Amino acid sequence: MYTNEDNRFFLEKSKEIIDNFEDADFLKKNIDGIKNVIRFHEHRYYVMNDPLIADFEFDRIYDTLKKTEKINPSLITGDSPTQRVGPGLTKQFNTVQHLVPMLSLENSYNAEDLIDWDRKARELSGIESITYCVEPKFDGASISLIYENDKYTRGATRGDGVEGEDITLNLKQIRSLPLSASFSTYGIEQIEIRGEVLMNKDNFKKFNEQLAEQNLPPLANPRNAASGSLRMKDATSVGKRNLEAFIYHIAYIQYDQKNTRIQSHSESLEILWNLGFKSPVAEKKILVGIESVISFCAEYEKKRDTLPYEIDGLVIKVNEIALQDKLGMTTHHPRWAIAYKFKARQSTSTLLQVEFQIGRTGSITPVAKIQPVPIGGVTVASISLHNEDFIREKNIRMGDTLLIERAGDVIPYIVKSFPELRKGHEKEINFPSECPACKTKLIKTEEEAVWRCPNYQCPAQIVERMIHFTSKDAMDIRGLGEANIRKFYEMGWLKDIPSIYQLPFDSLKKMEGFGAKSVENLVEAIEKSTSQPLHRLINSLGIRYVGETTAKALAQKVHHLLDLQKMSKEELQEIEDVGVKVAESIYQFFSTKDNIEMLNKLESIGLQLRSSKKQPSSGSLNGKSFLFTGSLLKMKRTEAEELAEANGGKILSGVSSKLDFLVVGEDAGSKLEKAKKIASIQILSEDEFIQLIKK
Ligand code: IVH
Repeated sequence: MYTNEDNRFFLEKSKEIIDNFEDADFLKKNIDGIKNVIRFHEHRYYVMNDPLIADFEFDRIYDTLKKTEKINPSLITGDSPTQRVGPGLTKQFNTVQHLVPMLSLENSYNAEDLIDWDRKARELSGIESITYCVEPKFDGASISLIYENDKYTRGATRGDGVEGEDITLNLKQIRSLPLSASFSTYGIEQIEIRGEVLMNKDNFKKFNEQLAEQNLPPLANPRNAASGSLRMKDATSVGKRNLEAFIYHIAYIQYDQKNTRIQSHSESLEILWNLGFKSPVAEKKILVGIESVISFCAEYEKKRDTLPYEIDGLVIKVNEIALQDKLGMTTHHPRWAIAYKFKARQSTSTLLQVEFQIGRTGSITPVAKIQPVPIGGVTVASISLHNEDFIREKNIRMGDTLLIERAGDVIPYIVKSFPELRKGHEKEINFPSECPACKTKLIKTEEEAVWRCPNYQCPAQIVERMIHFTSKDAMDIRGLGEANIRKFYEMGWLKDIPSIYQLPFDSLKKMEGFGAKSVENLVEAIEKSTSQPLHRLINSLGIRYVGETTAKALAQKVHHLLDLQKMSKEELQEIEDVGVKVAESIYQFFSTKDNIEMLNKLESIGLQLRSSKKQPSSGSLNGKSFLFTGSLLKMKRTEAEELAEANGGKILSGVSSKLDFLVVGEDAGSKLEKAKKIASIQILSEDEFIQLIKK
């Protein structure tokens, strides 16, 4: 869509703006140009997924606009890129009427349904073979947007189809939606367009991880995350959710007198794309006759899991607008379009039992044991109920029928219960008041939704702490595993973390199921763990809120782990990544006598409590950024990351123009595709990465 000349033009302009960062007069004179440069880069980043400059350069240009508008408020226009940021909170969303009702689509589930639908369409139209445009059925929250005289004027939710909620401000936060678009070049004065707001799978995963960190139950699927985000009262928070929007339909157009009308659906997708919207131009397929549509649907369903966002099917649309008009609509849906729904990832089952599991920090999690059901290719038998509030909100009783969903690679989730199907024998779920393992009275603080066992010596917690300590991303003691830890604890061989280093290997060799070789491997793995770097040891201690990133920040800060014992909460908070809650938790950990004794024991056993603070600047990969994707064959991903870091490299979490190297293992997916589009990223195989380190 941009010629090389366009790209060069905007890059030169970008450079010029950055060079004149301090020159208020220059910036004022060129304010319209600056806005256009920002729009160009936003479009390349958010719509095309193909940025041309580094994020910090973009930020710099954006700052010039903010600064200039602050000095010259009269130059602020409604469609300025700075005007995405909403003022204050929305008290309530007003109800607004759509210009044209938002209809739903008829559903089809198999080839017969499609053949039937196509036959009816052919009969009604008298056409022998219809040309269809097939595109993804995006699984998000539907929206309707109005542009008048090229300006975005209103955005609304679907609501009941006739009226929706006015979410104009919130939608401004979605940077793939342009605030102005040159519809007038097509003779369009007013237009109402429809689309779907999505949270992509990566962002959804991160979002759920953040919820989990706060002990909040995760959301079932990205669709709920998207629709929930659109209804937030604070528009700036909407911006932080990294939503995106696909626009796939023109619902209403008011042309001026002289115009050429849009002939086909695919043409409208092209026009929307050319005007800066993210429409499914690349995703759509034009097919003649229903047979080719059927094979395309079958092929596309296989690709479902490789897409960066969720889709729940495909939408098949008659391509020619004149033919669409001829076919018209029923009261519920258009006759010219149909949804082809993929296999459901939902199923119902019965709640058989609830177990209360104790985590390493003492949190009690109710877990539903259900009648096993296959969903999306796996059998689900056990699902987290998160906490007491979740059980209450979802109105779940023992024996209830439950609706269960497993979206893509997301963990299974209970969508709802069916109280209307109760037979009378269903019972309330009683939350225990005592720890199921040690009988200590459970406690719950005001800020938290979870009950906790406060007994640090609770056997269940000790076992969970050992499991965490030995796990892959912690001390990585292979061969010990969860089942063995439980068994050895029962037998009295393991009683706490230091006892891992005092296992009676001679007796172990005599045990059934343990050959000399497996014991030898275990001895080696345990021995090897003593030289794990400090940040891994910190991560393995299972301090609440301290994960891999915070562990690294702490290890960087101290010479010896016990230095943390001497730090006040305020001092702890000065460390990167450490907020009030985290500082409190670290402080608690190091104020507990048992923990200090344990650390002293571990040091006398030979574990590394001293920081091996490597000077990254001396490494051969000094300052270069890396990202690993796909499965590596010669080492684990965490090992590769550590190797890169040990040599002065940095690890990034996603593909952007900030990335220097993408190291690609087997079955690499969307990250590789994205990286290929950014010329400055070097793509390396695992072997090439190893070579690079050796240099
Ligand atoms: S076209 C008049 N195209 O599916 C036809 N809808 O079940 C307008 N949806 O309410 C809809 N992807 O929220 C259309 N590519 C797509 C779609 C799509 C998702 C949603 C939309 C609609 C629902 C119908």
